Amino acid sequence: MAPGGPPRLSRREPERDPSSARTKPRERDRATCSTVVVCNNYSFTGSLNYLPKEEQLANMARDDSNPILAYHETTKHSEISLRTSGHYLDWDNKPSAFKQYKNRPSTALSRQFPHPKEASLKTIKDNRSKPTKNPDLDTMAELLFFSAGLTRKMRFGSQPYYMRAAPATGALYPIEVYIINGDIPQLNAGVYHYNPLDFSLVHLREGDYRSQLSAKSHEAVSSSPVTFALTSLAWRNAWKYEARSYRHWFWDGGVIAANLLATCISEKIWVKLIMGFVDSEVNNLLGLEKHQEAPICMAAIGTGLGTNARSVRPEIPALHPDVEPLSRDQTDYPIMWEANKASELPSADSVKAWQQGYKPRISKLSHSNATFQLRPLKPEDSPSLEQTILRRGSTRRFAQQAITFESLSTIVDAATTCVPLDFLPEGETLTDFYLIANDVQGLPSGSYFFNPGTKSLEQLKTGRLRHMSGYLCLDQPLFSDASVVFFLMADLPHTLACLGPRGYCAAQFEAGVHAGKIYLSSYSVGVGASGSTFYDDAVTEFFSPHAKDKSPMIAVGVGVPSYKARPGRILPQLGQA
Ligand SMILES: Cc1cc2nc3c(=O)[nH]c(=O)nc-3n(C[C@H](O)[C@H](O)[C@H](O)COP(=O)(O)O)c2cc1C
Repeated sequence: MAPGGPPRLSRREPERDPSSARTKPRERDRATCSTVVVCNNYSFTGSLNYLPKEEQLANMARDDSNPILAYHETTKHSEISLRTSGHYLDWDNKPSAFKQYKNRPSTALSRQFPHPKEASLKTIKDNRSKPTKNPDLDTMAELLFFSAGLTRKMRFGSQPYYMRAAPATGALYPIEVYIINGDIPQLNAGVYHYNPLDFSLVHLREGDYRSQLSAKSHEAVSSSPVTFALTSLAWRNAWKYEARSYRHWFWDGGVIAANLLATCISEKIWVKLIMGFVDSEVNNLLGLEKHQEAPICMAAIGTGLGTNARSVRPEIPALHPDVEPLSRDQTDYPIMWEANKASELPSADSVKAWQQGYKPRISKLSHSNATFQLRPLKPEDSPSLEQTILRRGSTRRFAQQAITFESLSTIVDAATTCVPLDFLPEGETLTDFYLIANDVQGLPSGSYFFNPGTKSLEQLKTGRLRHMSGYLCLDQPLFSDASVVFFLMADLPHTLACLGPRGYCAAQFEAGVHAGKIYLSSYSVGVGASGSTFYDDAVTEFFSPHAKDKSPMIAVGVGVPSYKARPGRILPQLGQA
């Protein structure tokens, strides 16, 4: 890609964050200057002096043996990193949003699948519903559609363009979904790839591979009729976000997992998310191409209800499927693959050790300022999950209007419920919720920390912080206009001390699931939401000293949309324009 080529930020770009697409240099300089003034008003009263653990992280990153931290440090956004990025978007080389296998048989999924009818807030909050149902092919179609299906079709010129059930950074959709199943009604045991465009399952392998996979991941795979594997096709997102896109693998996987969890709960299907697996085995089973794509998470679906997997198969032969290229050419970002290599688990023993490695944090979070007890609405009064998922879309403009404290409480209450992840003991989380409240009826404007023990918001700073919430989200006005902006943060030194480099992926992913829950719970209470990226160190500093040990993983703005959006629908996908 020729640096200095014409920036083509245009109507075709669904996400306006300035992190990767160039604007005219003079305009950017002006914006930056005014931003500095704004920041000094609120929190940047001196040099970055709140960051002992951040410094610790930076020092660790300088050590070559810590490629994951080197990655994290290198891909932080700052005003300088944005100003010096020479990246521009080459629209003629934009990767396809669909993985298309050549010459593979496929099974069409029926469009007459059930819809998730349970009250959406119940499904977002609940993670331990009693399992009663064994998934059949139609239920699988439902799970696939409501987590990764196409819900809106637009046109840009002659090109059709699809939006999906879950959000995705830059609408680039790097996540692919695979299925590994035993025999279930209407579908033979095998390994399949989900093609959302023509709503079908592409056949990759015949036979029951669950035992083999279970031995290299988690026993839930063996007793579940079906396991979903989420993988990332790296170039799709790196095209826009370059090396930072490695973080997006987990964000974009996490928001899909949030939809999947809620849909499973609505159907009373038990689900377990698995991040501990031998990467090379999953790569081989799914036929993933090295340094192009990688598995990020699995979901064992219907655990305890399936017939147990048959005994372990011998060696799994390599699979080299023929796949259409994503675009004309690709740029490689080796730092992403070095980070990913560092995070890999090489053996079944290392997987077991990793899954048992987490140590709960010793809470040091006492606070004396004002606290505000949550007052959530009744979950049973919320619309069905089907309605909520189809209504969801990232809000593109917020009216500067208040949301009620009850709405905020409901969102926090639902979105902070624990995620059923293989490495997390019951009731534990890697994610802490911080927020800036710009306009919430019954809550003074300011910044807050959510204390899950007391179910209350603890006030950190008071004051009007709209400039700050927008600034921290890379100066995007959307997040100044939002009523509330959440910053989901993780204690990386603690996480990495327990879980090593894979813990980094886990923290990003878990935050992605919580972000997905914020989206869903916002739409459940009739307000809008949008994910956001951020200036890493500025976020830590703003919430310090409370957050001095923590790094932002993801941000989400919530508020009243300034327009009425058309809901999505179950598209009659035809696999063509
Ligand atoms: C983790 C995450 C971060 C995002 N960051 C931004 C952002 O910085 N700015 C923005 O305008 N939209 C952001 N988005 C919204 C995406 O652009 C949006 O999801 C995508 O265009 C698909 O549209 P939809 O969510 O309406 O289906 C983000 C979404 C996610 C999931």
